[in-house]
Formats: sequence, C-alpha cells, structure tokens
Amino acid sequence: MKYPLSITVNGTPYSRVIDAKTTLVEFLRQELGLTGTKIGCAEGECGACTVLIDGIPMTACCVLALEAHGHHITTIEGLADGPDLHPIQSALIKTGAVQCGYCTPGMALSIKALLDQTPDPTATQVRQALSGNLCRCTGYQKIIEAALAAAAMMAEQTGKKDGEPQNNQ
Ligand code: FES
Ligand code: FES
Repeated sequence: MKYPLSITVNGTPYSRVIDAKTTLVEFLRQELGLTGTKIGCAEGECGACTVLIDGIPMTACCVLALEAHGHHITTIEGLADGPDLHPIQSALIKTGAVQCGYCTPGMALSIKALLDQTPDPTATQVRQALSGNLCRCTGYQKIIEAALAAAAMMAEQTGKKDGEPQNNQ
C-alpha cells in the first residue's frame, strides 16, 4: 500500500507517495538522494543512521518514513552553512576524530542534539549522548574531545554575535 507523505528535511518541504514499509533512512537515501545518512546494522544498534526528528536524535532505520509525516528532519547535509562547515564538523576533523567516517554523520547529529540542549557539557554528558553511536575506528576519545571543542567554538561564536569584546591576540 502507498500513502502520501509530507515531510520537511533540512528546511525543505517534500511531498511524496511512498510504500508504507519504507523506512526513514531508505526514504532519505533513495528518494531524496541524501546519502550522508549511513546504514550500518539496520536494526537500531549502531547509530550510523542517526538523524534529528524535531531536534531529537533518532535511528532512522527504526522509523518508518510515514511516522515522520509532518515532522522536521535534520540530516548531516543540513548541518553545514553552505560552504562553511558546522563547528561540530570542523572540530571532528581538527581533533582527528574521523577515520573511515562511516559513523561520523550520526555522531555529528548526536553531538548537535546534545549541544542544542546543553551548550557546555561535561565529558560524561558527551559520553552519555554518544552511547547509542558505535565507532569501529577511533576509540571514542577523540570524538569526545571534538564534542567539547565544538561546544567551545560555538560558545565563542555566540559571544561574538552577542557583541562581547573579542580577543584578537
Ligand atoms: S543502521 Fe540504524 S542503528 Fe544501525
Ligand atoms: S570513524 Fe570509522 S566507524 Fe567511526
């Protein structure tokens, strides 16, 4: 059976008629061509498919696309601001937290959800926020360092926007 779906992805509204069994990650990758969202286990264990649904990190392999009807989805493609990487992406690169990169989109979105709610997290809070995201390469420490570095970068950017004096030294 096919049903109509209306969904907003990275700020763009889409309307499609889709099979009821289509998962959200299948819809994003196959229907919209947003292949930044990865499929690892396809059963909710690895977190590679993590996207934000109304700001909440969810494993898109475990959500039917029709369950996301009317909701706002953020994928890794929606994180950068045009050619400018999001501070989370910059921090992941700078700290050497990306090796094969397969887990990275999901990690980045879990970090974003954390920093949106908790702009100055502890390392323990970062670990908890990333507990559903598995990485086979890095050993996690650099990813945690990246999340903390991103928090600092975002706080600095917010301070600049708020007109705080800038230290140019
Ligand atoms: S692919 Fe969705 S949790 Fe592993
Ligand atoms: S960088 Fe390879 S799985 Fe995380």
